[in-house]
Amino acid sequence: MSALLTSLITLSAQPAGAAVGCRIDYTVNDWGGGFTATVRINNLGDPVTGWSLRFSFAGNQQVNTPGWNANWTQSGQQVTATNLGWNGTLATGGSTEIGFNGTYSGSNAAPASFSLNNTTCTGTTDPDPDPDPDPDPGNRVDNPYVGAGVYVNPDWSAKARAETGGSRIANQPTGVWMDRIAAITGTTGARGLAAHLDEAVRQAAGQPLVFQVVIYNLPGRDCAALASNGELGPTELNRYKTEYIDPIASILARPAYANLRIVTVIEIDSLPNLVTNVSPRETATPQCDTMKANGNYVNGVGYALAKLGAVPNVYNYVDAGHHGWIGWDDNFNASVQLMCQAANASGAAPGNVQGFIANTANYSALKEAFFTADTVVGGKPLREVAGGWVDWNRYVDELGFAQAFRQQADSQCFDSNIGMLIDTSRNGWGGPDRPTAASTSTDPATFMEESRIDRRIHLGNWCNQSGAGLGERPKAAPEPGIDAYVWIKPPGESDGSSSAIDNDEGKGFDRMCDPTYTGNPRNNDNMSGALGNAPISGHWFSAQFQELMRNAYPPL
Ligand code: BGC
Repeated sequence: MSALLTSLITLSAQPAGAAVGCRIDYTVNDWGGGFTATVRINNLGDPVTGWSLRFSFAGNQQVNTPGWNANWTQSGQQVTATNLGWNGTLATGGSTEIGFNGTYSGSNAAPASFSLNNTTCTGTTDPDPDPDPDPDPGNRVDNPYVGAGVYVNPDWSAKARAETGGSRIANQPTGVWMDRIAAITGTTGARGLAAHLDEAVRQAAGQPLVFQVVIYNLPGRDCAALASNGELGPTELNRYKTEYIDPIASILARPAYANLRIVTVIEIDSLPNLVTNVSPRETATPQCDTMKANGNYVNGVGYALAKLGAVPNVYNYVDAGHHGWIGWDDNFNASVQLMCQAANASGAAPGNVQGFIANTANYSALKEAFFTADTVVGGKPLREVAGGWVDWNRYVDELGFAQAFRQQADSQCFDSNIGMLIDTSRNGWGGPDRPTAASTSTDPATFMEESRIDRRIHLGNWCNQSGAGLGERPKAAPEPGIDAYVWIKPPGESDGSSSAIDNDEGKGFDRMCDPTYTGNPRNNDNMSGALGNAPISGHWFSAQFQELMRNAYPPL
C-alpha cells in the first residue's frame, strides 16, 4: 500500500524579518506494521541556512534511526530532523528529500502538521509532486548509449591489434583516461583530448556517438593505495580546478563536439574511500583521513560535476566502487549520502549527475549464477557465514549491487532517471576454473569455493588479478536500470607495478600488486592474487592482456 499524504500550512511570521514558508510532502509506503516515509521539504520562503523539521505522530509510530539525509531523533510522539552538512541550505523554491523506516501498531496516520525552524508549514499541496526537481541544463537523452555507437580509442586499439589474437577485440570501445594534466594535450603514445574528440567526430560520421572520458586526477589521488597516486598533492584543489577541470570543460564545450554524447566517468576510487578507509576503522589510512578532513575529494568531485555538467552534451557518471567494497550495510547508504554531499558541493546539483558506474578497473563478477546472499547452505544463509565469501554483504555480484545502488541513490537526493554503468572489461572469469553448476556440498566454505564465478582469493584484491578474463562485451541497456556494460579500464593496461619502478607520473609501489604480498586489513590479510612482472599502472602489460583473452567469458 502506498499513500501520498500532504500537509500544508502557511507560515505565519518569522522572527527577524525573514519570510518563512514551507510545504511538506509526506509519502508513506506501508507494508503493515512497518513503513518507509519519504519527506520532501519545500522551501516557499526566504533562503534557509540550517533547518530543523518537527512533527508529531498521531499514533505509536517509531522512527528507526538513523534514517537518511537528516539527523533523526524521536522523543515520545515528537520527531525532529535536522539537516546534514550538504543539505542545510535551501534556496527559495528549493527542496530536499529526507526519510526513514518506521514501525507501528494500530493505525499509521500521517502527522497532522509540520514545522520548519519552529514555523508551521502551510504551503498548499503540490498537485504533482516532482520527483525530479533539479533543472537539467542540457537537452539530454535518458540513456546516451541507446541508438549510439561508442568511440574506439585508436591508441589502445593499436596496442591490442599488435598482440597475437588481439584483433578479435581491437575494435571494442574503451575509456580515454585523462590521468594527469599532460594527458589533456597528449603524452607519448596517447593523443590529447581535442585530438580524440576530432577523431570521435570522424567516427560518428553524422550518427549519435558516445565518447567515454575518465576524469582522474584528484588532489591526493588513490588515498588507500599507492599504485595510482597522482601528480597533485592533498591540498592542490586549486590546481585541479584551474589546470585540469577548467581546460577539459572548455575543450568539451567546443561547438565542433556539440553532437557527441560525452560520458564522463568521475574520479574512480575516491569518495567510497572516505567511508571505508578512514578512522576509526581498522582499514583507515592517514592519507584518506587527510582527504576526508580537508574536503578536497568532495569539493573536487563537486567542481567537476558542476563544470562538466554545464556542458549540455556531457553525461556525468560518478564512481560507485563495487559490491565487494560498499555492498555492506554500513558502507552502502553512507556512500550514497557522501555522493549527495559531493553533488551539492562547489556549485554542483544532483541534476548534474546522470548516473553512477560500478566496478571500474575492478574484477567483481557481473552475475553469480549459482547462489545469492540468501542461499541456505548447511542450515544458514550464505551471507550469515561470518568470515565466508559473502560475510554479511547484501550482494554477491555487480548486477544486483548496481541495481540496488541506483534505487538507493534515487531514494536520496538523485533524480529518478539516473542509470548505471558496469565495467565488464575484466570480470569475465571464464577459462578452465569457471564452475559450471552449483556445488552439492553442505559445507558453506566448500560450497562457495566450488560455486563462485569470481575466482579471486579475496574480494578486496584489486591489482592485476591472476585468472581474470574479459567480461561481457560493451552493450547498451543490457538490464533494467543499467545504461550500458562498458570497458572503461582498457584491458591490457596494468593496475600497478609488482615491484618498485621509478617513474615521473607520481605512481607509487603498492604491495597489493606484488604476488608475494600477504595482505593488509583491506583484504583481510590474504595473498594479493596479483600477476608478477607488471609495469606501473596504465602501462601496457602484454601477459595480462593475453590472459584476459584466454579467460574471456563469454569466450572470444
Ligand atoms: C592508472 C592510470 C591509467 C588507468 C587506465 C590507472 O590505474 O593510474 O594512469 O590511465 O589506470 O589504465
